Amino acid sequence: MLIPSLEELEKIYNNAKKDPSFKKEFNFLLKTFAGRPTPLTFAKNLSEKLGAARIYLKNEGLNHTGAHKITHCIGQAILAKRMGKKRLIAETGAGQHGLATATVAAKFGFSCTIFMGEIDIARQRPNVFLMEQLGATVIPVTFGNKTLKDAVNAAIKYWIENVKDTHYLLGSVVGPHPYPVMNCDFQSVVGKEIKLQLRKFEGKPPDYVIACVGGGSNAMGAFSAFLKDDVRLIGVEAGGKGNQVGENAIRFPFGSVGVVEGYKSYFLQNSDGNLQKTHSISAGLDYPGIGPQLSLLHDTKRVEFVNVKDKEVLSATRLLAQTEGIIPALESAHAVAFGIKLALKLPKEKIIVINLSGRGDKDIFILAKAFKDKKFMSFLKEYLKDV
Ligand SMILES: Cc1ncc(COP(=O)(O)O)c(C=O)c1O
Repeated sequence: MLIPSLEELEKIYNNAKKDPSFKKEFNFLLKTFAGRPTPLTFAKNLSEKLGAARIYLKNEGLNHTGAHKITHCIGQAILAKRMGKKRLIAETGAGQHGLATATVAAKFGFSCTIFMGEIDIARQRPNVFLMEQLGATVIPVTFGNKTLKDAVNAAIKYWIENVKDTHYLLGSVVGPHPYPVMNCDFQSVVGKEIKLQLRKFEGKPPDYVIACVGGGSNAMGAFSAFLKDDVRLIGVEAGGKGNQVGENAIRFPFGSVGVVEGYKSYFLQNSDGNLQKTHSISAGLDYPGIGPQLSLLHDTKRVEFVNVKDKEVLSATRLLAQTEGIIPALESAHAVAFGIKLALKLPKEKIIVINLSGRGDKDIFILAKAFKDKKFMSFLKEYLKDV
C-alpha cells in the first residue's frame, strides 16, 4: 500500500537533488536555523589526562534542538512541502527526532503527530513536554516492548491509513528505500564538515572516526565522507547490561539477516524472525535493527563494530563533563566511552574524531537517578508538592 508513496518520495528527492533551489533552501536553513556548521573541538584536557591519542569532538549537540536529527528533518520537510503534504508523522525513541520533527512542522506549518513507546515517554519526558509545546501530538505506543521499534510500527500503520496528506518523516537510515539513501545524503554534511575543520587544525585526515549506532544516521553522516580514505571507522553499539537476549542492542555479532519494517538488514531476532527485546540506558540506541548501508559496510569490513556497557557510558559522561565542559547525550556517550578506551592504546600522534551526536539535557532524569543524586530527587519531591 505504501509503494506509490515511496515511489513519489524517491522521484521528488531525485528531482530535488538536481535542483539548485533545493540545495539553496536546505543549506540556508542549515546555516540560519539549525546552526551549522557545528564546531569541531579539540578535547585538550581529556587528551592530556589520558596521556594518549589526540581526541576531537564533533559537537552535533550544538545543533538547534540538541542533536543531529534536525538536519534530515529540514531536508524532508522541504520535500514534504514540495509533495503538497499537510501533516508530518514520525517515530521517536530518545525524543530527539520527534523534537526535531515537531520543530520543522511548526516552522513549515505542518500539523504533526509523533509516535513514542510508553517506556520511552517515561524516560525521556523533557522531550515529550517540548514536542507538545511545539504543537505536536505525542501518541504513546502501548504494544510490544513499548520502545522505538514499536513506535516505527505504529507510525507505518498510521501512514498506511493516512497516506494521501501525510509525510512519514523517518528519523534514521532505516526503513524502505529511499529513506536510508536520503537521510544518509542529508547527514553527509557532518563528515564533510569534519574533514574541512580537521584540516585546519591538523592539516591531515583523522586516523579514526567513532560514532554511536542506533539506526545509524549520525554514524553514516560522520563516516560517509571518509569511506574512500585511509581512516578507520568505528560504530559503537549499546552493550547494555550484559550479553543475554534482552540485555543489549548488539546487532554485530548477535543479529542475523531479515526483512522488517520495509528493509533488509541485520536484526536481533529469534529463529521465527520475530524481533527480540533490546535494552540500552539510552533510548536512541535501544533498537533491534540497523541501517542497510551499515550492514553492508560491516559485511565488507569497512566499518568495525564494537559495544560498550551502560556503566561505561555513565563513567564516560561524567569524565567528558568534568574535563571538557560538555555533557553528551547518553547515545553519544557510547562513542565517547569507546573513544577513551581506544585512545589509551594509541600513541600520542594518532587522531581520533568522536561524533557527539547530541547533548545530554534530555537525560537529566536518567543521570540523576543513575548517579543517585539525592539533592535532585528531594528537589523533585518538594517541587511536586505545589503542583
Ligand atoms: C543524540 C542521539 N544520538 C544518536 C541517536 C541514534 O540514532 P542514529 O543511530 O540514527 O544516529 C539518537 C536517536 O534518538 C539520538 O537522539
